[in-house]
Amino acid sequence: MSKTNPIGVFDSGIGGLSVLKQFLRFLPYERYIYLGDTARVPYGNKSPETVIEYSKEASKFLIDKDVKLIVIACNTASSVALEAVRDSVDVPVIGMIFPAAQAALRASVSGRIGVIGTRATVASKAYEYTLTKLSDNRVLNIFQQACPLFVPIVEEGWLRHQATRIIAEEYLKDLKEKDIDTLVLGCTHYPLLSQMISDIMPGINLIDSGEHASVNAIRVLGETGMLADERDEYNFTPEMEFYVTDIHSTFYEVAQRFLGFDVESPKKVII
Ligand code: DGL
Repeated sequence: MSKTNPIGVFDSGIGGLSVLKQFLRFLPYERYIYLGDTARVPYGNKSPETVIEYSKEASKFLIDKDVKLIVIACNTASSVALEAVRDSVDVPVIGMIFPAAQAALRASVSGRIGVIGTRATVASKAYEYTLTKLSDNRVLNIFQQACPLFVPIVEEGWLRHQATRIIAEEYLKDLKEKDIDTLVLGCTHYPLLSQMISDIMPGINLIDSGEHASVNAIRVLGETGMLADERDEYNFTPEMEFYVTDIHSTFYEVAQRFLGFDVESPKKVII
């Protein structure tokens, strides 16, 4: 294993491209292998046992590609399958929960923190557990809310649609009343709604788990001397390979929305 080996990023589908986008910002010199389990998405309403099984299969696929680090971009998989994946591979594994919880604790002054995610993420209480564990005896008030409709809405591209506003107001109503000062966007899709969420909850710190996970990856790789060397900044394009378990009719359009540019030559695979 060397520092030139790629970083493997997996998600239940296309949403994890929002996490890859953050990794490209903070670790632009790395090579990336992205795997989206588009045939079996969503994970957010599946049982923990199923998500663990799928996550282990995805990790095995990435290990066979000789990745030096696995990033579980999916918050749902990070919530329920992180330990199982760690136990099944011999490279470091980064999930979304710890970096986002750490960032939320740094950002919050009042200790009143909201978490939004899929039903499975919320039911797992992974954020609650991690925030409490990292709190260092500070008094915290944690409020969670599942927002399952945000996933199809974002895939539909309704980022500023009035129907989205109505749904978001409904989901965020209770959190607004709780007087939180920080909100964890605990799902791959939610950063795309951050403008809408800020409009509804002005002045709240929004925590993008992908952003903080990439900063965490710099530390994890740096500690073991596995960070890729810098390259000539005028003369390189990020190296990425894309694998998916299904390519549906709107794949390219939706992927472009998450990543900000076109996904080139995705390969369909069975995992
Ligand atoms: N990627 C999932 C997450 O971040 C959202 C989509 C799904 O439910 O699979 O939780």
